[in-house]
Amino acid sequence: MTTTIPTDQQPKRNRLAAMNEAALEGAGTERNQKQHDAGKLLARERIELLVDAGTFVELDKFRTHRCTDFEMDKKQPIGDGVVTGYGMVEGRQVFVFAQDFTQFGGSLSEVVAQKICKIFDAAMKVGAPIIGLNDSGGARIQEGVVSLAGYADIFCRNTLASGVIPQLSAILGPCAGGAVYSPALTDFVVMAKDTSYMFLTGPDVIKTVTHEEVTMEELGGALTHNKKSGVAHFAANDDAQAIAHIRSLLSYIPSNNSELPPRIPTQDEPTRSDPELASMIPVNPNQPYDVRDVIQAVADDRNFFEVHAHFAPNIVIGFTRLMGRSVGVVANQPQVLAGALDINASDKAARFVRFCDAFNIPLLTYVDVPGFLPGTQQEFGGIIRHGAKLLYAFAEATVPKMTVILRKAYGGAYCVMSPKHLRGDLNLALPTAEIAVMGASGAVNIIQRRELKNSKDPDARLKELSEDYAEKFQTPYKAAELGYIDEVIYPEQMRSRLCQALEMLANKRDDLPAKKHGNMPL
Ligand code: HXC
Repeated sequence: MTTTIPTDQQPKRNRLAAMNEAALEGAGTERNQKQHDAGKLLARERIELLVDAGTFVELDKFRTHRCTDFEMDKKQPIGDGVVTGYGMVEGRQVFVFAQDFTQFGGSLSEVVAQKICKIFDAAMKVGAPIIGLNDSGGARIQEGVVSLAGYADIFCRNTLASGVIPQLSAILGPCAGGAVYSPALTDFVVMAKDTSYMFLTGPDVIKTVTHEEVTMEELGGALTHNKKSGVAHFAANDDAQAIAHIRSLLSYIPSNNSELPPRIPTQDEPTRSDPELASMIPVNPNQPYDVRDVIQAVADDRNFFEVHAHFAPNIVIGFTRLMGRSVGVVANQPQVLAGALDINASDKAARFVRFCDAFNIPLLTYVDVPGFLPGTQQEFGGIIRHGAKLLYAFAEATVPKMTVILRKAYGGAYCVMSPKHLRGDLNLALPTAEIAVMGASGAVNIIQRRELKNSKDPDARLKELSEDYAEKFQTPYKAAELGYIDEVIYPEQMRSRLCQALEMLANKRDDLPAKKHGNMPL
């Protein structure tokens, strides 16, 4: 059906069309080209990649800043440095803002902050994820304290929305000064390699203050924040891949804390038994293996979406599905530091456990851990405080919690890695499991020191006593006898048992004592 437009309406309509055209044109061909030449997409191009085709609705397209200092009244681009609105991802509602580096370097003005806060408030009201596509030089310097206030308004919303709606950030250009704190408060951060940077103070300031020379890339590039600082969870090759990561991530998580994640149909039978599993976990406790092979062998269609892959690789975290249901996996990685827990591994896993718990995603923990990493670096760095975070996170979590002890579960690390005693729902062990206070020779050296000292051949005696100890204590059977392990299973039974458990726990309800909030050891 064609719409007939009355002639007297036309001038009004033409004005709107011209305004829309000006807004879409943005900063002009030259600046847009500069953005493309830098290997980056424009704000609206990024949004088009993120949302389902034709679903984006832009809000506040015609807003302009109100600053008059520094002759700013002569430069008032329509939209003022950010594109905001809502759209769909795989048919589900999301809210999105994309900073526009071509306008004042994407810097945060009073108006930019207000536009972002408006969609934040709407996302909270309707219970939909908010996605930030960041590319910004930080506070709009010309606006002074007004832009600082704008940042604080956003940080406050990030904090209040935490655990209510998922918040995802892509860093697709510089993120300097205050621009880093909003992403840091969000649940997951994706950075594009070679084009994105995050830092509070840049290389020039650092050189002046500490005399250190460091490049932008070394200081705050994607690999720095993925490997060293842990600020970022994913490193993408470019804008398009970063945005694809965000779409994948959304498929595992619900729209808000009162919903369940989407269930994705699968042909993979819950009873599938992967024969490779029978030999995947070496009996020799000193032989490493890649725990990701176990995670994949159990998961629907062998899919595993790893999170934080480059940071603290001695623990593996990420999402899989069992019978189409999203599951958060935490697994010690025997391939790195023998899977020992250290400061970074504890922080990495604790934050992930809390995310899953906040968003109704069941937890599946695979245990093969010799203990906490010894050393002064760890002790002085506060491994006690950091390890306690992981313990706290598992104990506090009320989502279904399933644990499989694959091999080692020693000492304090047994207590931390989602055991029965931290309200675990189903705790399984394989025949290769070794659940004990410590390894055999360590234990014998302490409790049978006198016996060894008096022995004619201490080495042979140590071997003998260690074998006795291992036979008695380095098995899953003592723990099973005490009910700390619900069932000892064959490795090839893992998928079917875990699918059954997830089904059994689907309506699990659990509570925490009434309180304002706990005081997690931060
Ligand atoms: C206003 C800014 C700006 C800013 C960049 N621009 N940052 N305008 N406020 N914060 C403008 C530039 O003047 C320039 O305008 C255009 O954006 C592009 O910038 P370039 O420098 O040409 O781009 P590039 O070489 O790619 O460098 C990008 C950059 C650099 C690394 C981000 O611009 C930079 O260092 N900016 C300042 C970063 C910073 O110190 N921010 C901290 C602000 S304080 P024209 O018109 O010339 O093209 C802060 C504290 C908040 O954020 C604390 C809250 C907790």
